[in-house]
Amino acid sequence: MKLLEERIRQEGLILSDTVLKVDSFLNHQVDTVLALEIGKEFGRIFADEPVTKVLTIEASGIQFAMATAIALGVPFLYAKKKKAVTQSDAVYSVPVHSFTRQETYQVSVSRRYLGPDDNVLIVDDFLATGAALAGLVDIVNESGAKLAGVGCVIEKSFQEGRDLLERKGVRIHSLVRIASMSPGEIRFAEEERT
Ligand code: G4P
Ligand code: NA
Ligand code: NA
Repeated sequence: MKLLEERIRQEGLILSDTVLKVDSFLNHQVDTVLALEIGKEFGRIFADEPVTKVLTIEASGIQFAMATAIALGVPFLYAKKKKAVTQSDAVYSVPVHSFTRQETYQVSVSRRYLGPDDNVLIVDDFLATGAALAGLVDIVNESGAKLAGVGCVIEKSFQEGRDLLERKGVRIHSLVRIASMSPGEIRFAEEERT
């Protein structure tokens, strides 16, 4: 997605060889026009799939899951990282280890909102180590739903997330793929043909 590459070049801050800060438009302050365009793009890419629900994980996947759900005319659902007091025990739950935070947390989704009749499109902002996304894939599999695929806004192709998900047999599309980066320099991989 050219628009997104340009925006990353203009406003992205490369903090190290592995961390890209995009919080002026993507995941802290959010450019809603861009977010809606991202949703439309995922809608186009997965138009061949009869998606019934879009799934993400809190917090910064939510705006893109919502935009995609609007484009597809279906609801979206976000997995929670902490158990809410209103949440019953009827949840699908998987442990996810965060490499950046060096902690393991429990990710959960109510059983009420995901089941064998669903065809799920998972959406998230970053594909890095893939730990969180792999957890969502496990939840979809446990629910008996079909997995349409995974859509990521930014993939850091030099990290292991794509491999991890492909080994699970998942169809992945990323709108922007970063081949490599270092402070002051960013190289994008060729855009995937869908
Ligand atoms: P992931 O690949 O499955 O997302 O897992 P990982 O443990 O590698 O990433 C941990 C968190 O860091 C994730 O957010 C992920 O989106 C975020 N992240 C990874 N690389 C980058 C990066 O280069 N830049 C930015 N800005 N974020 C990155 P999270 O734990 O889901 O938290 P939240 O921010 O969505 O609440
Ligand atoms: Na995220
Ligand atoms: Na994040």
